[in-house]
Parts: sequence; structure tokens; C-alpha cells
Amino acid sequence: MSKLFTPFTLKGITLRNRIAVSPMCQYSAVNGLPNDWHQAHYATLARGGSGLVVVEATAVSPEGRITPQCLGLWNDDQAARLAPVIAAIKAAGAVPGIQIGHAGRKASANRPWEGDDHMSESDPRGWQPIAPSAIPFGANLPRVPRAMTKDDINRVRGDFVAAAKRARDIGVEFLMLHFSHGYLAQNFLSDWSNHRTDEYGGTAENRRRFLLETFDAVRQVWPENRPLSVRLGMLEFDGKDEATLAESIELARQFRQHGLDFIDVSMGFSTPTAKIPWGPGFLAPIASRVLRESGLPGATTWNISTPELAEHLISTGAVDLVMLGRPLLANPHWPYAAAQKLGVDKASWILPAPYAHWLERYRGA
Ligand SMILES: Cc1cc2nc3c(=O)[nH]c(=O)nc-3n(C[C@H](O)[C@H](O)[C@H](O)COP(=O)(O)O)c2cc1C
Repeated sequence: MSKLFTPFTLKGITLRNRIAVSPMCQYSAVNGLPNDWHQAHYATLARGGSGLVVVEATAVSPEGRITPQCLGLWNDDQAARLAPVIAAIKAAGAVPGIQIGHAGRKASANRPWEGDDHMSESDPRGWQPIAPSAIPFGANLPRVPRAMTKDDINRVRGDFVAAAKRARDIGVEFLMLHFSHGYLAQNFLSDWSNHRTDEYGGTAENRRRFLLETFDAVRQVWPENRPLSVRLGMLEFDGKDEATLAESIELARQFRQHGLDFIDVSMGFSTPTAKIPWGPGFLAPIASRVLRESGLPGATTWNISTPELAEHLISTGAVDLVMLGRPLLANPHWPYAAAQKLGVDKASWILPAPYAHWLERYRGA
């Protein structure tokens, strides 16, 4: 019996299986507005059979975009155009989620297929990135960010709250705060990027402050019966991992006390010098430890590309959900293929009726 294809209930929502579409930037918006691309893309992913579809990193302010083509949720037009995307995910039987975030010192970049680097300071499409300290990432992202004032911190927290309210009002059922991958929240958390000497820098407690305050503010406006999650960069693969992980697990415990419902374990990407041990499911043992030691339900991501590995991670209780990215871009019907491979009875019913009916009818013909 496959456990990957068992439902998962959290607060007031139930996923039809344990496969989640990991947030993936499409870099295809204009002025933060979704368009036909997003409508078709997300409907297709939801029709593919995953239990949860998390819409890509969506900026809480214009300066919080990674690239000029990132989605936004800083105004009501954007929310109105996103509403049918969310409705299409729901209509296809998946739970609609979204990730909201701020790119911090990695903002103002070119799209991955156009260089993946910072736009030059003279490029009129770009803007001045902000971050806890005026320290650049380096490598392809050399631009020095402006160190945030307390007013900036308060304003960005308010931007998260406003974006969360818009997501709430258009029917998003699973909210994920992007606290990873070297973007703004991770910039505060990591001493690679945070050299502040005020109450937002220095000790672990101070470096967590922006994350916990932002979380608390969002928690106040996010409905109790819908899960509130964070994707957290738990470690950097920079040779200091045991210490970083201990701090991150403590933060996860504090998030839980503050009302976090679900944690998605990822990594920090705070330094270009990281030595990441890429391999199938390499982050899963770390995620499993984080879940065990924090007492939170959660997921992991990165290189979980076979049904057998996904099934193993769920059936052994290592994680509650698997967050898949590239396998679902390659084949949005990956869940159907996985169900077939795992011998799930009537795997075709993972597909929408217009497909399932014919596959079932002509089975073996
Ligand atoms: C095209 C693309 C865009 C991505 N955008 C985001 C994003 O918006 N937010 C995020 O947290 N991770 C993002 N990621 C990381 C994925 O969510 C995922 O964690 C990662 O690709 C590992 O999963 P995979 O090995 O199944 O692809 C992106 C990955 C890809 C390939």
C-alpha cells in the first residue's frame, strides 16, 4: 500500500496525496501581474494530480522582486489577476498555496536564462537592493545592498502582512513565507549577510528577530484554519553546519510556539562558496531531524525525483510531504506515473476525468 498516495490533513485542509508542487519562479510577469502563462501553468500542474500547488515566490513589494518579471502581491490588481489562477488550482482538486517573499540583497537580477546576475547599476529596469547590512552576496550578484533602517524593517513587515491579507482574500489555503535561499529573511538569519550591531544582528536571538516578528504579524491576519508555513534555510553547507543547524532547530521550535503549522526544510544559499553535497534526497535526513526535534509537521525538497524515493520518505515517516520542482516541470503528470509505478490501484483516477475515463476504458486494449 502506497503511503505517498494517502491524504494529509492539516488544520482545515486535506491534500489528496503527499506530493506538493514546490514554488518555482516563472519570471514571466509584467509589473508583478500574472497572465495566461501563469493561468495555464498552474492549472496544468494542479490537473497533474499533486495534492498541493504552491505558487512561486511572489514579492511583497516592487523592490522585493528577484527580477523585474517576478510575480507580486503588493497591489489589488495583482490580487484580482491571481484570483483565477488560485481558483483553477482549487477546481482541479489540489490545495492552492502561495509563497510570499522579499529578495533582499539578491534583488534586481536578470532572469536565469538571461544571465542570472545582478543588473548593472545603470540599467533603468533595476533598483537598489536592501538588506540587513551593506554586504554583497558576491560572485554573480556583486551589487552592494543598502543597509535597512528600522523604518525599512517596519515597512517590509507591513508589506508581508498586506500580501498575506490579499492571499487570504483570494482563497489561498496554504501560505508559505519565503525565509530561505539567501533572500531577505535569510539575510537577517545568517551571519554571512548580517553584521548589524542593533537588536536585529549579532546574537542568534537578534538575527532571528526579523523572522519571528514578521511571522507574528502575518499570523495575526492569516486564518487559524488554514496552514501557515515557512520555507527555512536551515544550513549553508559552509563547514559550520552543526552549529547553524542547532540554531535553526531552535528557531523552528520558537516558530512552533508562535503558531507555525508546517515547516519546509531547505538550505540557506547565503554564500557562493557553499559546498552542497548534491545527490538524491540529500536534504531528507536533515529534514527528518528538524521535524523530529522541532515537533513540527513538514516537508523537504531537492532531488527527490523517483517515485520510490518519494514513497520511502513518506512511508518511513521522514517527512509528511515531498516538495517536487523540476520533475513536475518535466512532467506535470508525474503523480500519475508515480502511482502506476507504485502499483496504486486505478492510478488513472489521479488524472482529471476527461483523461482518466479513456485511460481506464482502454486499459490493456
Ligand atoms: C525554475 C525554478 C524556480 C524556482 N523558484 C523557487 C521559488 O520561487 N521559491 C523557492 O523557494 N524555491 C524555488 N525553486 C526551488 C524549488 O522550489 C525546489 O525546492 C528545487 O528546485 C528542488 O526541487 P527539485 O530537485 O525537485 O527541482 C525554484 C526551482 C526552479 C527549478
